[in-house]
Amino acid sequence: MDVYGYELLEEKMPKHVAIIMDGNGRWAKKRMMPRLYGHRAAMKTVHNTVKLASDLGIQVLTLYAFSTENWSRSKEEVDGLMSLVVEYIKREINELHANNVILKIIGDKNHLPLKVIKAVDSGMHQTEKNSGMILNIALNYGGREEILHAIKKMIRDGIKDDEITEDLMMQYLYTANQPDPDLMIRTSGEKRLSNFLLWQNAYSEFIFDDVLWPDFDAKTFCRLIAEYQNRDRRFGAVK
Ligand code: FPP
Repeated sequence: MDVYGYELLEEKMPKHVAIIMDGNGRWAKKRMMPRLYGHRAAMKTVHNTVKLASDLGIQVLTLYAFSTENWSRSKEEVDGLMSLVVEYIKREINELHANNVILKIIGDKNHLPLKVIKAVDSGMHQTEKNSGMILNIALNYGGREEILHAIKKMIRDGIKDDEITEDLMMQYLYTANQPDPDLMIRTSGEKRLSNFLLWQNAYSEFIFDDVLWPDFDAKTFCRLIAEYQNRDRRFGAVK
């Protein structure tokens, strides 16, 4: 199918796309505006990206909204980001539901502000029986924290060492029952993983693009999917 001028093959559509939405601060700075202005502009990009991913038949979209390290930002920015998450869920949840999207939060949810916990619980509850795209919002998420969380839970469940397999480990991660990301995108030109989906990204294709997240549009998304579809994925094997 031709989408925004790119020939995308349905059979090669990534099942799971994960995105590090970077560059909001720089986008705002270029306009001599406060950082939160960039995060607010980012919400429009989130809206459009979720809709396009769902329309393209992508099964899972994971967006890195707030890392376990982001608490070290100014109180103003942290509070602003938390309010934006609540605002996003309240404003978008009915449309997400109408589009059959399942909202999930990955990360250490319990240590978020109460208003965020309430909004995400309500959003997850409303959409849990849907059967379309899974939208994972990574909130207070860290890949190392996720792995430790999984190991602690296995111990509490009395799992014996010889019962621990890769499949079991995957069941204990926040992304249980989801395919690993096929495509991991980071915007803004930074070439780092920043503690994102450490286990799950083992065989993902990485694309680092210079676009700042608020400027990431449908055409850019299609260009990156086309680039992904041209990659030769070998998973460690020889063809
Ligand atoms: C990175 O840009 C972006 C973030 C740390 C926050 C992303 C959050 C949102 C887009 C809002 C909430 C999202 C959802 C899905 C409800 P940066 O601030 O590090 O930019 P910089 O590197 O240019 O400073």
